[in-house]
Parts: sequence; C-alpha cells; structure tokens
Amino acid sequence: MFEHLEKYAGDPIFGLNEAFHRDVHPQKVNLTIGLYYDNAGCIPVLSSVRTAEQRRAQEPEPRTYLPMEGLAPYREAVQKLVFGAQHQALQAGRVATIQSVGGTGALKVGADFLHLAYPDSQIWISDPAWDNHHSIFQGAGVPTHSYAYYDPATKSLRFDQMLAELRELPPKSFVLLHPCCHNPTGVDLSPEQWLQLIPVLAEQELIPFLDMAYQGFGAGLDEDAFAVRAMADAGLVFLVANSFSKNLSLYGERCGGLSVVCATRDEADGVLGQLKAVVRRIYSSPPAHGGHITSAVLNDPQLYAAWVQEVAGMRERIAFVRKQTHEQLSAKLPSYDSSYFVKQTGMFTYTGLSSRQLLALRERHGVYIIDSGRISVPGLNTRNIAYFTDAMADVLSA
Ligand code: LMR
Repeated sequence: MFEHLEKYAGDPIFGLNEAFHRDVHPQKVNLTIGLYYDNAGCIPVLSSVRTAEQRRAQEPEPRTYLPMEGLAPYREAVQKLVFGAQHQALQAGRVATIQSVGGTGALKVGADFLHLAYPDSQIWISDPAWDNHHSIFQGAGVPTHSYAYYDPATKSLRFDQMLAELRELPPKSFVLLHPCCHNPTGVDLSPEQWLQLIPVLAEQELIPFLDMAYQGFGAGLDEDAFAVRAMADAGLVFLVANSFSKNLSLYGERCGGLSVVCATRDEADGVLGQLKAVVRRIYSSPPAHGGHITSAVLNDPQLYAAWVQEVAGMRERIAFVRKQTHEQLSAKLPSYDSSYFVKQTGMFTYTGLSSRQLLALRERHGVYIIDSGRISVPGLNTRNIAYFTDAMADVLSA
C-alpha cells in the first residue's frame, strides 16, 4: 500500500549524531547537533530548573490539558523576555503569543498560519540555511527560496547582496531571519545592519519571520533580541519563534513560543484565535510539564536571577572555547586563518572544511562534524580541545 513512497534519507543532523553514538573510538568528539554541553561534556540540568521541578514535585497537580494557546503566565513571560517588559507593543496589546512545542513547533504553527493568511506567498530563507527551515515551510505548502547571506570566501556576511535581493521580492513575501547566533554560520547582522534592513522590509511590505533559538548565547538575553525589538519599534507586522531548548536546557520538554506582532489590539485578538485553530488541528494543546517549569523559572524573581547567571555562564564558556580553539590552531598551523572561531558567535561555527577533510576527521580521528562543515562549538571542552585542534591541523595540512 505504501511501497510507492520514497525512502526517508534521514536528517543530516540527527543522523550523524546517532552515528557518533554508535562509534567506539575512545577519543571521539561530537560536534554535530546543537546541544549545549558543559565543560565535563554533560548536558546540564540548570539549578533554576531543578529548584522549579522540586517545588512542583512537592505539590502534585492533576495532569489536565493546557489551553490551546498554553499557560497564561508562560505566554506573558515569553513576551517580556522577547520584547522587553516595557515594550510599547506589549502595552498596546498588539502581540499575540502562544506557548509552542519547542522552536520547531513555533515555526510549524507560524508556517501554517502564514499560508492560511497569504496562500500565494512564498518564503525566502538564508543561504546557507538550517535545512529544517526549508522542510517546515514546504511541508506547510509554502514554496521556499534562498537569499544571499554568507560568503564562504570571506567567511562573513554578504549584506549588500542580501539587501539587494530582498528589495526585489514581491510584496507579502515571507522572509526568514535569525536575530542572533545564525544557524548554521554563526555570522549575524550588526545592530547597524538591522537598522538598514528594517526600512527595506517595510517598504517592500515583506513579512519577516524571526527564528530566535539561541537567545542569550550571543551577546546577552537583551542584546540578542535587538532585531526583534527594533522591528517592533518600527511598527512592522512580523512573527517571532523563540525556544527554551538551549537557554533553559529543556530540549526534550519542547518549550518555545510564537509571537505575532500586529498593527492593533483587535488584529492581535483575531490572530490569537487563528493560532489556536492551527494548534487544535495539529496537536491540540502544548505539553504541560515543561510549560509549568519554564513559567516558574521566568516568573519567580529569584529563580529568574539565577537563570540569567546560568545563561551567562553558558555563553561565557562558548566564548572561552572559541578563543582557546583559535589560539591553539594559530600555534599548530600558523598558515591557517582560524580567526572565524572568534569572529562568529553563538553555538555554531562554519568551518568551510571540504567533504574530504570532514570524512578524514571522522574516520581517522572520530571527530564528527555535519556535512555542511558546521561545528556545534559546545561539544568542545578543556579535555578535548587539544585533541580536536591536533586533528584539524592533521587534516588541514594533508
Ligand atoms: C541544530 O541545528 O543542531 C539544532 O537546532 C537541533 C535541530 O533540531 O536541528
């Protein structure tokens, strides 16, 4: 009955992560999936999260359904974190926010919603992209295209070309943007570049969809939301997906948010209704446990303060590892320019390594990097950086 279906080739990120776990190499290094590991190579359970879970365990509540749009205090906390507590768009009531099933769930609900609102519109996504962006929008019936973003020759942003291409798009096209910690390149727009881009989006009547999966891992929780807040200040109508997978280390609990910034409170009320209708069709209501824990951490002043410190710790460790890697590579291979390790920010670095070099790293050294050459930096730590930089020097000098 189903023989006619194509075989699923597997996901390039999850697939290689699974291959890593099967490998018996004693010094293997996992730089595949975007997971934050601590310096001991473990995925942390944040102390703020642990406290919230202990408190909840002491007062067990019935496991009833959450509303389609999620918990009210969770949604308010998402708004404050993403837009800043005092933002005029929040005070005007023109932001519709739902609790989502991770960042990916927010993208899916947003994609279905956009397709419903503008069935003839298409989406433009950065080149290179997080592959799943294309899959999610195609799955929602939205044709996908690329806009120029990263220049492999200079390992930096093609900003002028990006602007020029976006200026040519038909009105009401959707544009996928990363406010911080671009996945997969680690190359972001500067605040000045965002301020140049925003009028182009407005003049062309484009509908931006911001994917903020790594808030706090770039320059800081507020700093990383610069583009979101600048767009809301400029009066644009747009969508923002945010995720707590990384910054609360709650991957499997599937906690995220989707916010639609509208022109008026009335419009936002209507949009919230449509988002609920989309949710009801896909999964009915979001998961409760992670929702309660996230809400507890974000709404309790002490837990929130502790969490902000924990996010800073993760961000600083990533920056430290980037610096160490750059220094060691410069010493081991002076002819190789590894400055991209410190120029790029957030979880990911785009190495530009060839398929042959990536294969050699995997087969000779047990170092796993996905086929695009993207490294998930927190897979490095003080115990494996020297091994990793030796392996890099080996394949780069071959
Ligand atoms: C990644 O890019 O590795 C992460 O966002 C995990 C995922 O879902 O792909």
